[in-house]
Amino acid sequence: MTFEMDFARYLAAKKTVDDRALNRNVWDVLAHTLPPQPLHALEVGAGIGTMIERLVERGVLTRAHYTAIDADARNIDELKRRCAKFTPTIQIDAHAIDVFDFIAQAPEYDLLIANAFLDLVDLPRALPKLLSLLKPGGLFYFTINYDGATIFEPVIDAELDHAIEQLYHATMDRRAGGSRTGRRLFQALRGANAEISEAGSSDWVVFAGAQGYAHDEAYFLHFIIETVRAALENEPTLAHDRLRDWVTQRHQQIDEGTLLYIAHQVDVVGKSSSASA
Ligand SMILES: C[S@@+](CC[C@H](N)C(=O)[O-])C[C@H]1O[C@@H](n2cnc3c(N)ncnc32)[C@H](O)[C@@H]1O
Repeated sequence: MTFEMDFARYLAAKKTVDDRALNRNVWDVLAHTLPPQPLHALEVGAGIGTMIERLVERGVLTRAHYTAIDADARNIDELKRRCAKFTPTIQIDAHAIDVFDFIAQAPEYDLLIANAFLDLVDLPRALPKLLSLLKPGGLFYFTINYDGATIFEPVIDAELDHAIEQLYHATMDRRAGGSRTGRRLFQALRGANAEISEAGSSDWVVFAGAQGYAHDEAYFLHFIIETVRAALENEPTLAHDRLRDWVTQRHQQIDEGTLLYIAHQVDVVGKSSSASA
C-alpha cells in the first residue's frame, strides 16, 4: 500500500485517542489545583495545539497567556490556525524552537504541560531543566508518557510480535527517550524535588466498533504501523521479508477493522519545589 506520512494529520487523529486515554483522576487534580486565572502556561512539544483545545473546550482554562513551543514550524503554523479562535481570552504565543534553546531565554510559568513528549527526551537531563521553567510551587502536567507495553491483537506470530515489540523498545532506548519513561518519571521527579499530587495510567486503546474505528483513528493506526516499520527496517536481527509481511498484515487488519492496539502510558500532575529559585 502507499501511505502518506502526514504528521499533522496523525496528531489530529491522535486527539480523540488521547481524549479517551488521559487519566481522569490526574485531569481532575489539575483542574482543581490550577492557580487563579489568568495564569501563564507553557506547553513544550505542543504539536498542533490539541491540548490547548482540550483545556479550553473542557472549561479548565478560561483566561491564560499560553506559550506553546514545538521544534517543527509546520506544527506551530497549524497550532496557530487551529487555536486562533480562542483569542482574546486565551492569548497564545507559539514559537518554532527547540525546547532546550527556549529554556535559556524563558521566564517562569504557573503551569507546565508536556503531552506525549517526555519519552522523546533524555529524562534525567531534561527534567530539572524543564522544572526550572516553573515558578516555585508551580504545577506540572506530564501526560501520555510511554511505559513499556505495545499490544497488537490478533496475534500474527507470538514470537515475531514479541520480537518486534522488544526491538521497537530498543530503538526508543537508543534514542534520547526511553521505552519506560512512565515508571521512570516517579524517581526522576523525586530527584528534582518535585511533588507528585496524582498519577495514573493513560493507555491508548484503539478498536473498531460496529461503525469501524472512531473519527480518523484508522489513519492513526496506519501511522503507528508505519512508524514501527520505519524504526525497524534496518534492524539486522529482523529479516526484511518477515517485517514486510507483518506490516502488510497489520495494515490489512486495520482495513478490515480487526486490529486492536493498546499502548501503556502514565500521566502525572504535581508541583515543583516551593523552595526552588
Ligand atoms: C509525539 S508529538 C506530540 C505533540 C503534542 N504534544 C500532541 O500530543 O499532540 C511530539 C512533539 O514534540 C516535538 N519535539 C520533539 N523534540 C522537541 C524538542 N527538543 N523541542 C521542541 N519540540 C520537540 C515534535 O516536533 C512533536 O511535535
